[in-house]
Amino acid sequence: MTTPLRLGIAGLGTVGVGIVRIVQKHSTLLATRAGRPIEIVAVSARSKTKNRDVDLSKYEWEDNPVSLAKRADIDVFIEVMGGHEGPAKDATEAAIASGKDIVSANKALLAIHGQALAETAEQAGRVIRFEAAVAGGIPVVKSMTEGLAGNEITRVMGVMNGSCNYILTRMEDAGLSYDAVFDEANQLGYLEADPELDVGGIDAGHKLALLSAIAFGTQVDFDAVELEGIGSVTIEDIHQAADMGYKIKLLGVAQMTGRGLEQRMSPCLVPDTSPLGQLQGGTNMVVLEGDAVTQIVLRGPGAGEGPTASAVMGDVMDIARGLRVSTFGQPAKTLRKARAARAAVAAPYYLRMQLIDKPGALAKVAHALGEAGISIDRMRQYGHEDTAAPVLIVTHKTTRTALEEALADFKATGVVTCDPVAIRIEAV
Ligand SMILES: NC(=O)c1ccc[n+]([C@@H]2O[C@H](COP(=O)([O-])OP(=O)(O)OC[C@H]3O[C@@H](n4cnc5c(N)ncnc54)[C@H](OP(=O)(O)O)[C@@H]3O)[C@@H](O)[C@H]2O)c1
Repeated sequence: MTTPLRLGIAGLGTVGVGIVRIVQKHSTLLATRAGRPIEIVAVSARSKTKNRDVDLSKYEWEDNPVSLAKRADIDVFIEVMGGHEGPAKDATEAAIASGKDIVSANKALLAIHGQALAETAEQAGRVIRFEAAVAGGIPVVKSMTEGLAGNEITRVMGVMNGSCNYILTRMEDAGLSYDAVFDEANQLGYLEADPELDVGGIDAGHKLALLSAIAFGTQVDFDAVELEGIGSVTIEDIHQAADMGYKIKLLGVAQMTGRGLEQRMSPCLVPDTSPLGQLQGGTNMVVLEGDAVTQIVLRGPGAGEGPTASAVMGDVMDIARGLRVSTFGQPAKTLRKARAARAAVAAPYYLRMQLIDKPGALAKVAHALGEAGISIDRMRQYGHEDTAAPVLIVTHKTTRTALEEALADFKATGVVTCDPVAIRIEAV
């Protein structure tokens, strides 16, 4: 056997412990496949005394992750602490400066500082790998940077936050309100300490920004992702969408348009027969479209100890084998700044509203849509209350700008009783 690859792991939570377990359980398998042993040398976490249900006695302990990052006896620094500033950033920078390769599961850090970190690492001849940061156990970064390297990528789509997909599918299955399922998910520990990271679309937005950079050769730009969470999705909309053959998903879409790079993370209607429509519970799915391959669909667990550690170890094995792919699939210096396009790609929309129950109300709404250049594909009134009539409209393809113009005009009609719901219908 040749020289071992020596690991330092910063963070011994869900992911860190998962990595330790794989290295211990599969030491022979890993060494055989890589042609060299994979060894953990040192670890770091906040508490040295916490019981982590795994044997750490053979590893050196560092209280400070920055000290771990600088150790001369490690080759790869694995950052699985989390957070986009503080110890995660300081230790990653220190590791690069002291000649280590980096494997990270930290989407927040990379979505915000990825460009600068990648440039620094590449200047120093080091690699940063982050498979675990996007869609957990699904090898989507590898698929894009290696398997699809011969394609021009045309669109990336994905359901990349399992907690949101759990909430939306549970609402539909149990007929429960958003608030009820949110509380349930929180009690089950499915949501981050700050739930807004999940339900506000921020966590999934970080992942989309990372995939966009790889797909379109652009500098990662999380601030340009249009974010809309699932907090305003109602059981009413889930039922009405189902009635028309759709499911509501928190869907990320990245696409290069004539007007720039469009990155959206928002609730969308997708056909219930599509792979995305059929995705249940906490599972993730990423759909990649390339000019040569057409479309591929990747599906799998987006989080959890085993799946995330599996992705980290895939990156570790690449480094052990000497495979050195640039962080975003091409040298960081060649990534260009993309112009951000907002909802440039037209789509049909689902509109739900309450109209005053009097003759001519529907005609006024149809007129406002017509004035904005929006034609109606389907329209129906369902149910009936004393003074209001609930109405559903599916438009033909239109831009978000035209739609917003129409929604503003609805107010002036005097017949729409509360804010209409507008959800994009994505062609998948
Ligand atoms: N969990 C998942 O399913 C999953 C999936 C994909 C990506 N990720 C990403 O993986 C990373 C880790 O997630 P996780 O779920 O494993 O988190 P976690 O369970 O909260 O564990 C975090 C670990 O980091 C340690 N830590 C925190 N601050 C530290 C500091 N200042 N110095 C030293 N150690 C420190 C903690 O130490 P103590 O244990 O002593 O408190 C803990 O061991 C995050 O970036 C997350 O976004 C997680």
